[in-house]
Amino acid sequence: MDATHYKLMIPGPIELDPAILAEMGKPLAAHYGPEWVRFYRETVSLLKRVMLAERARVFPVAGPGTAAIEMAIGGVVGDGKKVLVATNGFFGDRLAQIARAYTTHVATLEIPWGQPLDPQQLDDALKQDPEIRAVALVHCETSTGVLNPLKELAEVCNQRGALCLVDAVSSLGGAELRFDEWGLGAIASATQKGLECPPGLAPVAFSPEAWEVVESTESPQWYLSPKTWAWYEEQWGEWHPHPTTMPSGLMSALHLSLTRILEEGLEARWARHERVAQALRKGLEALGFAPVAREERYASPTVTAMRTPEGVEAGTILRFLKEELGVLIGGGLGQLKGKAIRVGHMGPTARMGEIVSLLYGVEEALRHQGRTIEPGQALRGARA
Ligand SMILES: Cc1ncc(COP(=O)(O)O)c(C=O)c1O
Repeated sequence: MDATHYKLMIPGPIELDPAILAEMGKPLAAHYGPEWVRFYRETVSLLKRVMLAERARVFPVAGPGTAAIEMAIGGVVGDGKKVLVATNGFFGDRLAQIARAYTTHVATLEIPWGQPLDPQQLDDALKQDPEIRAVALVHCETSTGVLNPLKELAEVCNQRGALCLVDAVSSLGGAELRFDEWGLGAIASATQKGLECPPGLAPVAFSPEAWEVVESTESPQWYLSPKTWAWYEEQWGEWHPHPTTMPSGLMSALHLSLTRILEEGLEARWARHERVAQALRKGLEALGFAPVAREERYASPTVTAMRTPEGVEAGTILRFLKEELGVLIGGGLGQLKGKAIRVGHMGPTARMGEIVSLLYGVEEALRHQGRTIEPGQALRGARA
């Protein structure tokens, strides 16, 4: 691979703190034995604190975020139960694809990209079909930068007696998420975004209510069955509390990053991500970009998607930033391909200094295309 390092401001994986990377370089620990078990349990308990999920069963599954999503959905509806997938973007559509691998009874509630999922519409859909016992949805829709109103959506699910299964891949660690308090059924996440680690671990949490359903569900899963993970935790708990070899270096990195996240404080951290996202949005708006998220209050603190100004192809901005600044940002997915840029601002890149230099780069990219941009135009927008 090319040795050039580009700063990662794509919506994950993210730029990592060198201290986290250094954890990966330490001599490997065995993934079993008393020292390991102590360390493993401590890491799971840190995860519960970051998820605000003291009541939950939590597993740090080895795999990409999709592994946790498959575990959460398959574990609950894998015996053919009916599930409603509420979608307003690429990753919501992906949830429906995953659900269809486990059950033929998948209903969808489709909301246009850029709009948030609407609790009232969810309520209507659940009222019309009382057979639906689970709802799957994405918290931060990474394709549009919309942060869905999870607390309100979960409330509707709970009132209608359906478990709320959440893809929290790009929200956990950067956006407010309160598992117990909001009554979530399950969440699935990944380490390479707001949790500030390399990719490779997929934390998943189940509420006691979801766990009851998991226990009575015969799902065609083994490695990704929550029941398999629970069996090893219960039967092999004293020396090997998980079914397979664990990436112990990654677990060390996660232990450190979770400790640091808790030291910063969850609320301070959510507020930091929020401030930075707002500055970026305002700065880009001052350059003629328009947020894909149609309402400001639903714009995500971790991922920003902006439509490019009329006549500007997104790829030209991406290329300029990569070649001239050494910074990678993302392009539009699906229906936004070529029309939008997407920026991940999580962990170390959720800092004002990073946003200022990115805005400078975007100004330069537009000037390079012959647009007249006043020096500091984006920064003035960001400051306002
Ligand atoms: C909201 C969301 N869900 C799921 C995924 C898939 O995660 P992974 O590639 O780790 O499986 C992503 C990745 O960007 C995401 O942003």
